[in-house]
Amino acid sequence: MGVDLSLDKEKLESQDNLKNKVGLELPNIQEDIPPRKKLIFSGIQPSGTFTLGNYLGAIINWNKLQDDYNCIYCVVDMHAITVKQEPAKLRQNTLDAYALLLACGIDLERSILFIQSHVKTHAELSWILSCSTQYGELGRMTQFKDKSQKHADDINAGLFTYPILMAADILAYNADLVPVGIDQKQHLELARNVAERFNGRYGKTFTVPDPYIGEVGSKVMSLQEPTTKMSKSDKNANGFVLIIDDKDTIIRKFKRAVTDSESEIVFREGKDGINNLMTIYSAFTGQSFEQIVNDFNGKGYGDFKIAVGEVVADKLFPIREKYLQLVSDKEYLRECYTENAVKALNVSQRVLSKVYRKVGFVS
Ligand code: TRP
Repeated sequence: MGVDLSLDKEKLESQDNLKNKVGLELPNIQEDIPPRKKLIFSGIQPSGTFTLGNYLGAIINWNKLQDDYNCIYCVVDMHAITVKQEPAKLRQNTLDAYALLLACGIDLERSILFIQSHVKTHAELSWILSCSTQYGELGRMTQFKDKSQKHADDINAGLFTYPILMAADILAYNADLVPVGIDQKQHLELARNVAERFNGRYGKTFTVPDPYIGEVGSKVMSLQEPTTKMSKSDKNANGFVLIIDDKDTIIRKFKRAVTDSESEIVFREGKDGINNLMTIYSAFTGQSFEQIVNDFNGKGYGDFKIAVGEVVADKLFPIREKYLQLVSDKEYLRECYTENAVKALNVSQRVLSKVYRKVGFVS
């Protein structure tokens, strides 16, 4: 099947043109075209293997969205080089991320999953959009301010123009909706402004993308310091769980999870450790907090930690198996990302050609 990208609006417009030109009464196509599914675009950085936080926060939703939308997903290796990368490691991380997304359920029969640097239209569109972006608005991006503090020895121009490339990712496909976390909201807002500015200057060209606000992903906190977000850059490896950790490792990490000095399993302010464990348990089992409280009534923290560890290990097991199988089959992986890059190029090239025409480039 693949992604249905039929541009019904354009078809209808050309039908109108035809009618006007030849004065023909054509059958009403509008009735024959099923409503187009909305298009979702999202990207993820290839920062090594993903944690439970990435999984419950984003990837699990990417998966579900495939049921109701046309989805295009991208591993953004070009964004990754805005901070220093070791080339061999970046290459490995990109392939790992690609394989892991497949293992997590991104379905190439229904969606497109590609590697950003394989599709040249992103960089090309990024240049055009940079001429419709103001220096001042880029300077207001909080992520730029944070990152230039963190990487004070390398405040490169790419770090500054990062949001323009992200806008190009989205606008190159005329995406309707973009699922992003709170940290990327400002970048999406900028993409909307750039799209509107360009449309205003050159005539309607881009779809102005909306943030996808659906079921919010769960925010998973560190198992060791439950007031901070789970991150694989945590110095304490017991603070995070990787999607591809084995069962023993997962259970061990949950057994060591930091809780509090009380004994009641209940979701309440101040009980950050228990709240986090309940969030994770609920995300995997679908149980409400109320149910969890009932089920574990009278049981100790130790029992609960093991129960959470087991649920997580069981749910992640098939993903780990699939991932290991995929990374051992390099040929198959290559086929997937090559084919999908071609698909992505086909879609985005149409948009880029229109953009080139609009700005006045000679065709
Ligand atoms: N900047 C995003 C992040 O760090 C990743 C990203 C790149 C993205 N391009 C995108 C997300 C386009 C959504 C749409 O999380």
